[in-house]
Amino acid sequence: MDKIINIAMDGPVGAGKSSIARAVADRLNILHLDTGAMYRAVGLTAISRGVSVNDEEAVSALCKEITLTVEHHADGQHTLVDGRDVTGSLRTEEVSMAASRVATYPGVRAEMVAIQQRLAKTTSMLVDGRDIGTRVLPDATIKIFLTAQAEERARRRYVQLQEAGASDTFEQVLEDLRRRDDQDMNRKTDPLRVAEDAVVVDSTDCTFEQTVERILMLVEERIREKE
Ligand code: DC
Repeated sequence: MDKIINIAMDGPVGAGKSSIARAVADRLNILHLDTGAMYRAVGLTAISRGVSVNDEEAVSALCKEITLTVEHHADGQHTLVDGRDVTGSLRTEEVSMAASRVATYPGVRAEMVAIQQRLAKTTSMLVDGRDIGTRVLPDATIKIFLTAQAEERARRRYVQLQEAGASDTFEQVLEDLRRRDDQDMNRKTDPLRVAEDAVVVDSTDCTFEQTVERILMLVEERIREKE
């Protein structure tokens, strides 16, 4: 069997992580596991079943009850809850806030981390999230921390929302982003932080393609070093 390559990619909301992760994984011909989608699926399920996302015990119990799976198709990752594909419902602001909230619960994190570790153990993949380098894949082949300044991240998110026809103002988007940064960085269990051995890539002044190229170069360098 070929050697398994695991790339850990962490960073704050809006750094372009998901799309960059996907492009890098495609170029390396490995799978991309979007772990944020898994927390989003838990948040969405709580909302749709009338479970308050502030009720830690109920959300943790719900998380144990459901079967969360991911499938990789030609158009990317599909996330399923009890066999139902929820991919199309995960990207609303309501679900974003719910995901950030449920992701603070240790019971939820334990379930998600176990699934992610199981998947990465047998398959080469690029795993993107918040705690991948620090918790999920401490022995990853390479750890990338992808970031950009908050205003730039908010600007990119704002453009996306505008294109989708949303009416949020830039100030609202920036405020939401800061609130989520705060929630992600200050939670007790596995907060977002730079792993000691991670390479920090700041994309504030880089185009999408420049960022992809830079990460590919780092990965290839690391693979060569390890050979
Ligand atoms: O990357 P994203 O915006 O889709 O993630 C949704 C939420 O889930 C976000 O608030 C952070 C949280 N998350 C996490 O805590 N750990 C991960 N590995 C991935 C996401």
